[in-house]
Amino acid sequence: MNNVLVNVAWPYANGPRHIGHVAGFGVPSDVFARYQRMTGANVLMVSGTDEHGTPLLVQADKEGVSVTELADRYNRQIVEDLAGLGLSYDLFTRTTTRNHYAIVQELFRGLYDNGYMLKETTMGAISPSTGRTLPDRYIEGTCPICGADGARGDQCDNCGNQLDPADLINPVSKINGETPKFVETEHFLLDLPALAEELTAWLQTRNDWRPNVLKFSLNLLSDIRPRAMSRDIDWGIPIPVEGWEDNPGKKLYVWFDAVVGYLSASIEWAHRSGNPDAWRDFWTDPAATSYYFMGKDNITFHSQIWPGELLGYQGKGAKGGTLHRLGALNLPTEVVSSEFLTMSGSKFSSSKGVVIYVKDFLKEFGPDPLRYFIAVAGPENQDTDFTWDEFVRRINNELANGWGNLVNRVVSMAANNFGKVPTPGELTEADQKILDLAEQAFDVVGEALQHSRFKQGITHAMHVVGEANAYVAEMQPWKLAKAIKTAKAGVETDSATNAADVAALEDRLATVLWVALQVVSDANTLLTPYIPNIAQQVHETLGRTGVWAAHPQVVEVTDGMPVDVVGVGVPQAGRTYPVIMGDYGNQQAVWRRTSVEPGVALQKPKPLIAKLDPELGETGPEWAPVSGRA
Ligand code: MF3
Ligand code: ZN
Repeated sequence: MNNVLVNVAWPYANGPRHIGHVAGFGVPSDVFARYQRMTGANVLMVSGTDEHGTPLLVQADKEGVSVTELADRYNRQIVEDLAGLGLSYDLFTRTTTRNHYAIVQELFRGLYDNGYMLKETTMGAISPSTGRTLPDRYIEGTCPICGADGARGDQCDNCGNQLDPADLINPVSKINGETPKFVETEHFLLDLPALAEELTAWLQTRNDWRPNVLKFSLNLLSDIRPRAMSRDIDWGIPIPVEGWEDNPGKKLYVWFDAVVGYLSASIEWAHRSGNPDAWRDFWTDPAATSYYFMGKDNITFHSQIWPGELLGYQGKGAKGGTLHRLGALNLPTEVVSSEFLTMSGSKFSSSKGVVIYVKDFLKEFGPDPLRYFIAVAGPENQDTDFTWDEFVRRINNELANGWGNLVNRVVSMAANNFGKVPTPGELTEADQKILDLAEQAFDVVGEALQHSRFKQGITHAMHVVGEANAYVAEMQPWKLAKAIKTAKAGVETDSATNAADVAALEDRLATVLWVALQVVSDANTLLTPYIPNIAQQVHETLGRTGVWAAHPQVVEVTDGMPVDVVGVGVPQAGRTYPVIMGDYGNQQAVWRRTSVEPGVALQKPKPLIAKLDPELGETGPEWAPVSGRA
């Protein structure tokens, strides 16, 4: 069995998602997972909301609510957003479950027992006004290495170097602008230098990653040092070490806990699916593959910290160690990272009102226009700007005129002239050519999708659509239909010689429409991972029944699974919360030609894709107006 684990970055439950977020982790991961399922792979796709750490605390303060209330609210909102977009998670859960706490503490204990957690006194930043720790990401200043302004305490986006907040020139707090104070504090640091050799050896085998991700990750190795995995904070998972676990002011670093989510969510999924050991197919079977999808600001944590945690836990590093309860866990096959989506030239920013929320977008346009846009014009390899103008243009020209019209024209003509899929006669060279192009596209697009080259994949799928439109334009089936009518009238008034003409014309019309229907069917299959909702509609338009591409479901569950407790603080059982799950095993979609069967009844189709008002391109919608407009 080809077991493919699709791990998707966990969004912070500190606000609704905007389209920049889902362009980075959401749509790419779902296109990949849907494609893999269509090839017959056994796919597990997991994620959840990331609910610890300062991002939640800061927002809870701002909104004047408790952090748990905030997490509950945005967890629910994010679940709605992502399910609405059709992201086909096998489980989308959260980091405040009993199971997650227990698995995170298990990982920490394994690392600690194996000697990869160093207790050290470090310099930590605190806010002079509140006395609270200021996390690295909330401190900004001038980069000591390249001199760029706006470097964060953990990293400079300009030169890509990892930083220490204490090194920043003129550090200020992003929360309230004050100058942080640096004080001595004790922490556990992950001994990355002790894991460097194994990390390097592993990374050197990963040569088919996107070049920018690989380069960035290799670069991190040149400046590898211990990194703190605990924080002075009261909101997080307790550190399962005597003398630490009861200290209310010390918790595990949110990033230590979040990346473990891939594993804990897999374990929760296995439990919920009724086969508690099923997660092992994806984590301890050495033949299984795992793909991690995220925005570029997450690379460090996935190509260094998480593999480091995995290696240390299984005792693979300079300090040795033993295997622990969960066993030898697989390292990532690939870290797939996107660049950033900007909006009309600037960074998305909820506070500055430069933002397009997924919820608003879905309400007005439905999921597939956004999915299509992100796939074809998203930030796959470079930062990319979203403009309403381009959105409207692409939806109207490509999706509506290109794809929607093709389906509509071809099915309408077949329905009008035959009422069903016609039986083809002999194929001409031109017929064979377009059929071959469509069938070969499964290899071309499949190869692109296997390597997460989503833009290349959809571009080729749309090339097939374009060629199909050209084929129809050249064959002019409407002229054939008209000629049939004329010839039929001739048969009535004239002698029997015209009957043969009518038959020949009808045979040719049947052939052209059958060929066109087959290519429509193929193109629809090729587009299914990208626009599954439209694909389902086309499936039905072609006279087929049942579920072609499944939609995920939001289900209310109870936090009550049995856990092996390692440390203190595991939440009480009994909380209910929404998760995304889905029944993807029964969908019909497969990655190959599905033959169009003569005789299947066809009806005149409803319009598939609504065209957008071109004015929208200039003004934007009311809820996200184009900047600069009064
Ligand atoms: N919450 C983080 C962010 O939004 C992403 C966490 S990804 C995880 O940047 F896998 F580590 F959870
Ligand atoms: Zn720099």
